[in-house]
Amino acid sequence: MKSILVTGGTGYIGSHTAVELIQAGYNPIIVDNLSNSDAAVISGINAIANKDITWYKGDCRDDIFLRTVFEKHPEISGVIHFAAFKAVGESVAEPLKYYDNNIGSLVQLLKTMNDFKVKNLVFSSSCTVYGQPSSLPVDENCVHQLASSPYGYTKQVCEQILVDSGKANSEITNVILRYFNPIGAHPSGQIGELPSGVPDNLVPYLTQVASGEREKLTVFGSDYNTSDGTCIRDYIHVVDLAQAHVAALEWSEKNQGKCDHFNIGTGTGNSVQEVINSFEKINQIKLNVEYGARRDGDIEQIFASGEKAARMLNWRAKMTLEDALKDAWNWQKKLKTPA
Ligand code: NAD
Ligand code: WQD
Repeated sequence: MKSILVTGGTGYIGSHTAVELIQAGYNPIIVDNLSNSDAAVISGINAIANKDITWYKGDCRDDIFLRTVFEKHPEISGVIHFAAFKAVGESVAEPLKYYDNNIGSLVQLLKTMNDFKVKNLVFSSSCTVYGQPSSLPVDENCVHQLASSPYGYTKQVCEQILVDSGKANSEITNVILRYFNPIGAHPSGQIGELPSGVPDNLVPYLTQVASGEREKLTVFGSDYNTSDGTCIRDYIHVVDLAQAHVAALEWSEKNQGKCDHFNIGTGTGNSVQEVINSFEKINQIKLNVEYGARRDGDIEQIFASGEKAARMLNWRAKMTLEDALKDAWNWQKKLKTPA
């Protein structure tokens, strides 16, 4: 059984990916410093997978810590690197925190992988690297705009670091996945998103309004040039996204020495209003909604072309927006009623 190091594996996307790795026959080994997650997530992963997963608390920027993990597990054959900070607004207020963690973690990890001759890496990037695309759906060749936040810039820099290291060493395989908008939770209700403080993202905010933790959902702008005036995004179920990592890993094993990047979305755009309508319909809950001003820095619409991932990774999203919103609500209810 191949062991895969999963950095940031107790986080939202990492935990769902650990489950899918186990189900695909891999042995994930998690490292996480718990800066934005909880050790209890491990119990959720274990409950779904019916196994005790190996994990270590530590920081990816810590050379000695990372070396210890690779020394203990010489069987590690690949890495999926999730560990990073991801709050766009916070990155504007504290840019150095983001440059240090997001770029520092990747650089340290690549050095250690090089020392231990581990050659396959799958990296979490983001559609944020595109900015407002000039045409839709956005494909991988779309010209990047200047990053609109330090967070977005860290993803652009990390992508460049991976391209450059691939050019410098023809034996390594770097797969860059540009996620669109991950939402939802595991259908079992055992793991999901754990937003800290007031959520920035639409779906966790919306589920907290539904549960009564927040009074109302403010729609940021209803005067955009879209069919109902609200912004359009490509919302992807986190389990579909997790499965894309397994597909990317399998691709990297068959394409040693190649580096490539892929959009990971559904290929469909949905407006904020459509998300609200779908949530209300599937969960039979009426949300308290107000229509407010546009949010600074928001782009009007973006959704992925998933053709390259379908053709080369043999992966497509299978779950619907309704599936994701049902699972998000199931998870929110669980969060409100601790076991
Ligand atoms: P998350 O915060 O839930 O998970 C990240 C995990 O990494 C957390 O558990 C955190 O404790 C850990 N971590 C952070 N810095 C670390 C370090 N230096 N060493 C060890 N562990 C560290 O975030 P997520 O939503 O699961 O995102 C995972 C990755 O996907 C991130 O790189 C993020 O930028 C990227 N991404 C997320 C989204 C999204 O909307 N959630 C979209 C595009 C890309
Ligand atoms: C979605 C839509 C809001 C909250 C962010 C990051 C991006 C990437 C994905 C990591 C927008 C609207 C939201 C609310 C609202 N993450 N909204 N009321 O902005 O597409 O992208 O997450 O890489 O980098 O910027 O996602 O969920 O914040 O917003 O009306 O209370 O919902 O205006 O149109 P976004 P989001």
